[in-house]
Amino acid sequence: MSDTIIWTEKYRPKDFSDVRGQDAIVSKVKAFVEQKNLPHLLFAGPAGVGKSSLALVVAKQLFKDSWRENFLELNASDERGIDVVRVKVKDFARTKSIGDVPFKIIFLDECDALTKEAQQALRRTMENYTNTCRFILAANYSSKILDPIQSRCAVFRFKPLPKEDVINIINKVEKNESLVIDDNAKEALYIVSEGDCRRVENILQSCSAVDKNITEELVFSLASFAQPKEIKGILETAINGDFINARKGLLDVMLRYGLSGLDLIKQIQKEVWNLSIDNRKKVSLVDKCGEIEFRMVEGADEFVQLEALLACFSSAEE
Ligand SMILES: Nc1ncnc2c1ncn2[C@@H]1O[C@H](COP(=O)(O)OP(=O)(O)O)[C@@H](O)[C@H]1O
Ligand SMILES: [Mg+2]
Repeated sequence: MSDTIIWTEKYRPKDFSDVRGQDAIVSKVKAFVEQKNLPHLLFAGPAGVGKSSLALVVAKQLFKDSWRENFLELNASDERGIDVVRVKVKDFARTKSIGDVPFKIIFLDECDALTKEAQQALRRTMENYTNTCRFILAANYSSKILDPIQSRCAVFRFKPLPKEDVINIINKVEKNESLVIDDNAKEALYIVSEGDCRRVENILQSCSAVDKNITEELVFSLASFAQPKEIKGILETAINGDFINARKGLLDVMLRYGLSGLDLIKQIQKEVWNLSIDNRKKVSLVDKCGEIEFRMVEGADEFVQLEALLACFSSAEE
């Protein structure tokens, strides 16, 4: 019977030792939990690196069997406005914690989606319930969180997982799910994940639905990510002056992998560094990528912009 549980939940860390690649953070947070004394925490960092997982581990280790009664998870970007957050927090904080820990935990995810005013309200809420509740806030960028909130929290900056840890996670899933993943495919998974484990596990799960034998090609085709060597080939064609074929190649890659113009720009920008042209040209092409990306974000026609970028590669060689 094929399982329907989503792998990101199936492989969610259950204990501190399962949270990989964030050792310095984990050891500090673990010490708080062992002392049963926790300041407010702010977890900052990109998606899929263990912020929510660590918050859950804290709750489970601190409260054991009664963690569900003592842990409230809210998503700032889901809840319509800070008022909803305030009401839910108030309801939750009104009753005492169950067990021997004198506080409950409120985990508020995606705090950087809150407006300044909402954050001000959050700050007051944190102050009001400081005797009975500890807040764990998560955000992509700590710079988007008001200083007075940051200064009330111990701030931890999560990083994308290093390659070694991503590969370890892949190996674990491979064994558990009886997959066969060759080394090139593992490398590809690391490239497309950029250290985001949620992405790794999601791509692996979609790959496994197609074939238990996972190859580089399968990974790239399901990840909305062209093979880096194909992008490099297109750029080299352009640099060699064959603009028409480069343009054809680009369109082909775009359609085959279902890429948006923005996906492509990101990949092109990475490949510039692997071209054999002199460094000053690389710098000016990367600069151009930035400009084109900005125009696309502002709504310019994707294909016109990509062509303009390719034209710059074609005239890069003289
Ligand atoms: N540091 C990590 N160690 C092990 N697994 C991880 C780690 N970070 C993420 N994962 C995997 O990715 C999934 C999503 O991670 P999550 O903690 O929700 O990320 P975030 O909250 O930072 O976006 C987890 O359930 C787990 O399977
Ligand atoms: Mg999260």
